Amino acid sequence: MERYEQILRKNGQEHILNYIEKLEEEKKQNLINQIENVDYEQLAKLYEESNKDFSKAIKSVMIEHIPFCAKEKLGQSKCEKLKEIGEDIIKQGEYAVITMAGGQGTRLGHDGPKGTFKLDVKPESKYLFEILAENLIRNNKKYRVALPWYIMTSTENNEKTVSFFKEHNFFGYPKDNVKFFNQGNLPLLNESGKLMIDENYNIKMASDGNGSIYKSMKKDGILADMKNRGIEWIFIGSVDNALLDMCDPVLIGLTISEGNEIASKSVAKRNPQERVGVFCKKNGKPGIIEYTELPEDMAEETDEDGELLFGESNIICHLYSINALDSLAEKELPYHSAHKKANYIDESGKLHVSTEPNAYKYESFIFDGFGYFDNMSILRCKREENFAPIKNKEGNDSPETAIKLYNDFWGQ
Ligand code: UD1
Repeated sequence: MERYEQILRKNGQEHILNYIEKLEEEKKQNLINQIENVDYEQLAKLYEESNKDFSKAIKSVMIEHIPFCAKEKLGQSKCEKLKEIGEDIIKQGEYAVITMAGGQGTRLGHDGPKGTFKLDVKPESKYLFEILAENLIRNNKKYRVALPWYIMTSTENNEKTVSFFKEHNFFGYPKDNVKFFNQGNLPLLNESGKLMIDENYNIKMASDGNGSIYKSMKKDGILADMKNRGIEWIFIGSVDNALLDMCDPVLIGLTISEGNEIASKSVAKRNPQERVGVFCKKNGKPGIIEYTELPEDMAEETDEDGELLFGESNIICHLYSINALDSLAEKELPYHSAHKKANYIDESGKLHVSTEPNAYKYESFIFDGFGYFDNMSILRCKREENFAPIKNKEGNDSPETAIKLYNDFWGQ
């Protein structure tokens, strides 16, 4: 028996043999290579957890409110002091920025990497990547530096992202300071825990969530590059926030003055139903509960002043010391499963376009890394200056709402 056949039979995936049988040599070899590279033990564990109700599981964890610092209440002189500490770090060339751009942006319905979506802002429309580049260029001028900018892509969108940047001459950003790296992938599983095959006779894979950033940075030499450049503090942000402030010296200053290795900015949650993760303490350690996993009763809980108890929204404005990232690269994060629609080829070669969720996708979340630290700094800032997410085609958090926030902020 061939090795791949043994592997498939041993792991209950022998249905794949029916595909292999019919393939011409090149495609066959390609699929065999993929079969030999799957971590079946990990997949079995993931599948077992697929139906886990995370919002129930959360009840077995001790969840508490987490203290935060509101920027507005800092007072001018304290704010100035923290700002100075942070500005020194930036000016000394010890600060770098990462954009996570590996997500699919399915909800927005944009065909292509999300950063290539054009937002119709005033005075002229801009791509999301362009908005980020402009923000960094402004900071480079202000602090007389050239901030290293790292962009995380997925296998699926890497080529398109890199050529988009080249086509647009990196939007004027100094090219030598831009580096792309790839996040990881994991196979999708159907409802019976079986591997699926895509239109090109590959094992159907998908990005394994933004939590894969820590290991991917090490694997692709990003951590090493940062160390070579003498980087001490790293900002990690999303690709889909038109008001993302990637260089807030107050955040850096606060983190250093509180003696922490990690930090994040938050905004007050708009209402209990807003689709944002919320900061909390989980069994005494800092963390975030994702909006898909926060039980309704907890979402509505308020304190004695009537404020939401879990009201600090995650806007993906994370800050890390280089040592924190170094240690996170060695840590395991949990995977969260999502029931998704996935097209696939059946054994007779027919394409099935799914209209209902039919597969499990596994993702790790970047903020699950926070639990490896005892404390983190959280800086609450103003929503209208920091958060204009573009998630949905219409309604809340859509291009329309982001355009308005962007134009208002820039006085257009
Ligand atoms: C995310 C946050 C949520 C927060 C909200 C704010 C996570 C896990 N969730 O939710 O807590 O309140 O944004 O807008 O961070 N990405 C990758 N690779 C992946 C998946 C995502 O690079 O495999 C990137 C995306 O490109 C994006 C960011 O991570 O820049 C957020 O991903 P997205 O899927 O949009 O997360 P949300 O569900 O909106």
